[in-house]
Amino acid sequence: MIDFHTHILPGIDDGSRDIDMTEKMLRMEQSMGVSHIYATPHFYAHRRSIDYFLERRNRALEKTRELLAKDPELPQITAGAEVYYFSGMGKAKQLDELCVEGTDILLLELPFAQWHSDVIRDIEDIMHKRGLRVVLAHLERYEAFQKDRHVWDCILDMPLTIQLNCEDIIDAGSFFRRNHMHKTSMELLSRYDEVIIGSDCHNLTDRKPNLADARAAIKKRCGAERLAQIDEYTEKLFKR
Ligand SMILES: [Fe+2]
Repeated sequence: MIDFHTHILPGIDDGSRDIDMTEKMLRMEQSMGVSHIYATPHFYAHRRSIDYFLERRNRALEKTRELLAKDPELPQITAGAEVYYFSGMGKAKQLDELCVEGTDILLLELPFAQWHSDVIRDIEDIMHKRGLRVVLAHLERYEAFQKDRHVWDCILDMPLTIQLNCEDIIDAGSFFRRNHMHKTSMELLSRYDEVIIGSDCHNLTDRKPNLADARAAIKKRCGAERLAQIDEYTEKLFKR
């Protein structure tokens, strides 16, 4: 089992506070059968340079891998980044260095606001001019902001991968926004094959690792075959 989206590296963003929390999160992942984790700390171009980010991320990764070396039963970690959209990013130097290690896959976080045509242009540039593959982080979370459906529809027509957050798959919640995101997740799950899931875990409490619960929810609502298809698609995505 793969957890594609996590903030599990210590002390680098608003995720794991320190190496102790990282170890506890890793053990939580392990207890639910996760064998491979993608560590995807936030990258914001307006705050840090890519070099500075990578240096800090790689230091946190090294620290975490020291932990894994002592206990080979813990899930393996591959580093990536959750790259927040910035205008013109399709042309940004070093963008490839933010891809998931050893791949051409970029995890892209889009603004929580109405999208405009520059977003389409940049995603097209990333895919066609830079030759990178795009995974859109927690797509269900942006839908409510897209009053003008044009950009949303254009983006969904592109050959990219949709990542859904586990908490929005598991739980409808009791208030409107959570309920809406749950509904959107279910719609995206039923309409698109190119879907992968991730916990987007940040800590041990309100945003903890929860992949197993989301998998159980998919199995219950969409059937075991759909879950197997997601696993197969995820494997294929990283093997290519
Ligand atoms: Fe995230």
